[in-house]
Amino acid sequence: MKKMLITGGSQGIGLELAKAFAREGNALFLVAKEDGLLPLAIENLKKDFPNLQVTGLEIDLTLPESALSVYQSALKADFVPDILVNNAGFGIYGYVWETDQESEFKMLQLNMLNVYQLTRFFLKEMIQRNSGWIINISSISAFQPNPRLGTYGATKSFVLQFTRSIDFELREAGFAVRTMAVCPTPVVNTGFMERAGMEKSRTFKNWMVVTPDTVVRDILKGMKNGKNLVVPGKGLSFLLSIMKRLPEAVVIWMSAYYLRENRK
Ligand SMILES: NC(=O)c1ccc[n+]([C@@H]2O[C@H](COP(=O)([O-])OP(=O)(O)OC[C@H]3O[C@@H](n4cnc5c(N)ncnc54)[C@H](OP(=O)(O)O)[C@@H]3O)[C@@H](O)[C@H]2O)c1
Repeated sequence: MKKMLITGGSQGIGLELAKAFAREGNALFLVAKEDGLLPLAIENLKKDFPNLQVTGLEIDLTLPESALSVYQSALKADFVPDILVNNAGFGIYGYVWETDQESEFKMLQLNMLNVYQLTRFFLKEMIQRNSGWIINISSISAFQPNPRLGTYGATKSFVLQFTRSIDFELREAGFAVRTMAVCPTPVVNTGFMERAGMEKSRTFKNWMVVTPDTVVRDILKGMKNGKNLVVPGKGLSFLLSIMKRLPEAVVIWMSAYYLRENRK
C-alpha cells in the first residue's frame, strides 16, 4: 500500500486520480478548501472502497502559510507521501486590466507558490528515502501566450519549467525520485470552466477537449514509463510537437482563437 497526497482532491481531475489510486488499494490524504466538496467526496470514496484509508484536510491553499500547514499535518499523521500530486488550481478569464487583481494574486499564490513550497517540503523527504513521485498539474497553456488567460498560462509555464528542471536535476544527481509535469488540453466535466468564468469561450467546445479519466489514465501510464512530461489524450503530444515548429505569430493567433468568446 502506497500513500498518495492530492491537493484539490474534492472534484475534477484530483478526485478522479483519488479514485484510481483507491482502486489500487492505496491510502489517500486529500486536501481541498473549507466548506467545499471534500467531505462529500470522502464519503462517496468510502462507499465505493470500504477498506480505504483516507484523511481529509480542509484548508485554503491560497493562504501563504497553507503549504507549511499541509506539510506539518501530513507529518503529524505519519503520512509522508510516496506520490504527491499538486493538482489544486484555478484560472481567471478576461483581459488582464479587467480581471480582479486580488483574485489573480490568490491564483498566483495557489498555482505557483503553493506548488513550489509543497514540492520543496516533500522532495526533501523523498530524497532521504530515495523514492517517490511528484506530479505537478500544469496545462497546455504553459507552452504559449494565452490572450484572455494570460496570468493563468504564466503560472502553468512556471509549473512546467520548475517540474522538468527538478526531474533533470534528480536524474543528474542519481536519485530515483521522479517528477512529472502534466499538461492537459481543456478538460470537461470539472469545476474549472465555471470557476474561471469561461462558459462563453470556445475553449471547451472543440476537438482538443479531454475528460478527467483520460488525464488519469495517461498519468498512470506516464508513471509506468518514467515520463517527466505528459500531454493527456490521443495524439495530443504529437500536436504539441507540431505547434512547436510553427512560427510564434501563428501559435499566438491559434491560442487567441480558441480562447475567444463564441460569436452568437
Ligand atoms: N479543466 C481544465 O480544462 C484544465 C486544463 C488544464 C489544466 N487544468 C488544471 O488541472 C487542475 C485541476 O483542475 P480541474 O479541472 O480538476 O478543476 P476543479 O474541478 O475546479 O478542481 C479544482 C480543485 O482544486 C481545489 N481548489 C481550488 N481552489 C482551492 C483553494 N483555494 N484551496 C484549496 N483547494 C482549492 C478545489 O477544491 P474545492 O472543491 O474545495 O474548491 C478542487 O478540488 C488545476 O490545476 C487546473 O489548472 C485544468
